[in-house]
Amino acid sequence: MSDEKMQGINTRLAHLGHDPRSYHGFVNPPVVRASTVLFPNYQTMVERSQKYTYGTRGTPTTDALADALTDLESAQGTILVPSGLAAISIPFFAYAKAGSHVLVVDSLYEPNRHFCETVLSRFGVEIEYFSPHLGEDFRSLMRPETDIVMLEAPGSNTFEMCDIPLLSRLAHEANPDCVVMMDNTWATPLFFKPLDHGVDVSIHALTKYPSGHSDVLMGSVSANERCWKTLHDTQIALGTCVQGDEAYLILRGLRSMGVRLAHHERSTMELCKWLQQDERVARVLYPALPDDPGYDIWKRDFTGASGLFGIVLKGADEAAGARFLDALKLFGLGYSWAGHECLAVMPRFGDRTIAQPPEEGVIIRLQIGLEDVADIKRDLERGLSAI
Ligand SMILES: Cc1ncc(COP(=O)(O)O)c(C=O)c1O
Repeated sequence: MSDEKMQGINTRLAHLGHDPRSYHGFVNPPVVRASTVLFPNYQTMVERSQKYTYGTRGTPTTDALADALTDLESAQGTILVPSGLAAISIPFFAYAKAGSHVLVVDSLYEPNRHFCETVLSRFGVEIEYFSPHLGEDFRSLMRPETDIVMLEAPGSNTFEMCDIPLLSRLAHEANPDCVVMMDNTWATPLFFKPLDHGVDVSIHALTKYPSGHSDVLMGSVSANERCWKTLHDTQIALGTCVQGDEAYLILRGLRSMGVRLAHHERSTMELCKWLQQDERVARVLYPALPDDPGYDIWKRDFTGASGLFGIVLKGADEAAGARFLDALKLFGLGYSWAGHECLAVMPRFGDRTIAQPPEEGVIIRLQIGLEDVADIKRDLERGLSAI
């Protein structure tokens, strides 16, 4: 095994993507702002026979980030796109065609479903949803024209695990050309590596942990060898590129992602156990808890858990959930997560057809930031007292 493959994850995160010797010894890559790239002569220009040819096709800054992610995902290549949602929609454009059948896990990020229902369906693609709990029965849903299976684990806002290796295997057995895609934003490549478990395409909202500071939007899609060329060609065709300033910020965030995630994970586990003891909380939705229904799958496949989870407020309706949220002082009310600060939201589930939320009360989704646990507990107590 090479020295680099033996290195611990924090060592790799500190150095991935940029060799200081390639740019005058500077520790960080230059921020290249570019549309135009000049060629030395006509011949080079028509053959495009130099590494960089136009701003939409990558720069040394975007390459540094894409290479780091390709390494972390053990992928063939990675495209960078303007948001996490674009990282979901663009691979659908890459692998679906008129007449395709697409299988989508019902518990996924709601805007992914919105894209399928409002855009993808207009192109003659049939979309079918399935339960995140499906096992061997998934085989019966596969058809010769099933070109894409879209997975996410744990499920958005309800946090169910699905059996990624099993579903990937069944999809490929039924149709070897099928592309299995996964939104891996919750786990990051530090806690789950989809391509090592049979998935073909791994999707990230880099907006979340890789950025880590609630100030940049970006997405990435990493593909294995079979799926890489089509993905890359599609991005070039669509022109969905990112700028050097944003790519630099994400690479900067990536350097500390391991130590931040360790802190998020430790605080979140302590808070989840504390909340489990509270009689006002019917359930804590976090697959790393030993009594969570998804625990066995999480323990088998994942190497860690991040800082986003749900609590079911016992007997609480929307008004009680709103009182909880309005009483919080430290937690911000916001739709994102994975930054340095605590956030809370009461999700809605209007569009789900199969993976319904628990019935004991409303769910509050909590993002645990880097604040001290004692302060977070005091704030949650304020919320719980208000319901
Ligand atoms: C699981 C998941 N995937 C993708 C996204 C989309 O990311 P972005 O906000 O960068 O579009 C989000 C955003 O909340 C998310 O929670």
